[in-house]
Amino acid sequence: MVLFTGKGGVGKTTLAAATAAHLARSGRKTLAVSTDPAHSLGDALEADLRHEPVEVEGVDGLSAAHVDARALLDGTWGRLREHLATILAGAGVDELVADELTVLPGVEELLALAAVRRAAQFGPWDVVVVDCGPTAETLRLLALPEALSGYLERLFPAHRRAVRGLLARDRADARRWDRTAEALDDLVDELAGLRALLASPQTGIRLVLTPERVVAAETRRTLTALALLGLRVDGLVVNRMVPVPPADAAGEAARWLRDRATEQAAVLADVAGLGLPVRTAGHAAAEPTGVGALFELAADLWGDDDPAAEPGPAAPLLAVHRTAGTGRSADAEFELALHLPGASAAPLDLARIGDELAVTVAGVRRLVALPAVLRRCTVTRARLEGDDLRVAFRPDPALWLR
Ligand SMILES: Nc1ncnc2c1ncn2[C@@H]1O[C@H](COP(=O)(O)OP(=O)(O)O)[C@@H](O)[C@H]1O
Ligand SMILES: [Mg+2]
Repeated sequence: MVLFTGKGGVGKTTLAAATAAHLARSGRKTLAVSTDPAHSLGDALEADLRHEPVEVEGVDGLSAAHVDARALLDGTWGRLREHLATILAGAGVDELVADELTVLPGVEELLALAAVRRAAQFGPWDVVVVDCGPTAETLRLLALPEALSGYLERLFPAHRRAVRGLLARDRADARRWDRTAEALDDLVDELAGLRALLASPQTGIRLVLTPERVVAAETRRTLTALALLGLRVDGLVVNRMVPVPPADAAGEAARWLRDRATEQAAVLADVAGLGLPVRTAGHAAAEPTGVGALFELAADLWGDDDPAAEPGPAAPLLAVHRTAGTGRSADAEFELALHLPGASAAPLDLARIGDELAVTVAGVRRLVALPAVLRRCTVTRARLEGDDLRVAFRPDPALWLR
């Protein structure tokens, strides 16, 4: 499974469609599927898509679909919700409150991804290419399985069967509790399965960006967030690269292009230091829609390489642990661990710049966006253990108001 995500408008849908077409042409049975409620995969493929996969004309072995999260929401989850609301109301919780309690944030996206998981595991596909929503949505979605399991566990603790014995008014009521407990167990299992698939080596996440500073900064924050969720980003794709004009080209247009190319080169140099494979795709003169244009774009992007087999980073990019104290108490301490291949043998420099940490190894600078918990901390010390840089942080009340 290959997921494409990134900021809105950078080209996720276009590159997912192009990559899926490319994979199908290489002889693999491929499904391109969109979980983004703003369904535009059909526009990119110039095909009329729906919930059930349809074969895409002009590419043997390629099928495509839009997940209909609304319909899924009204199905299984709707029944479970009703069930829960009845039980909560029966247990004395106000009916309106019970209704509110059973609306889980982001469940729509979760169901969309669960449908993709079923397609990936039980469908006839060799590869499933997923066109995800914009970064923020997707992040929430990818964090959901764990967050939701925790939420359900708090709402209905594992000893709920014992609770049911105390609360059930009669035998019919007790059976309702049992059915709900089973439905919840199924949901938690489904979430665990989803989480396992997302974190498995068979799943790759590609972050798409355009060669602009603001987009690159957001990409660094997304990388940090995904790394903390234990999800593996195995490559970056920089889309819409402009050509560099010849040095002697004169005129307004040539100057504009040269300026654009200069910023683009600076951003490329920046993302090259993130420790991930970086690929580029050129800015096509005409909007790349339809299989012909998509094949061309994919050839530019992948050449003879296999899009499903990006090697990815050698080790997790970063990890954060609490090393002392609780909450943000004065004695709390956190450690950020960064894997920096070759660091032990090279000169190393470290600087805190606002919400980022700049690490320079052997003359190559890497900017790491700090996770939220560390932004309100100051760096107290740093040490190198082999190729792992360990930086200690302490909460700093002076930074809390920022
Ligand atoms: N390499 C490219 N060259 C030219 N236009 C592109 C390229 N990639 C994407 N586009 C265009 O940019 C717009 C946004 O792309 P899209 O794939 O829909 O982005 P996203 O899915 O990230 O929101 C579309 O009109 C698309 O055709
Ligand atoms: Mg899109």
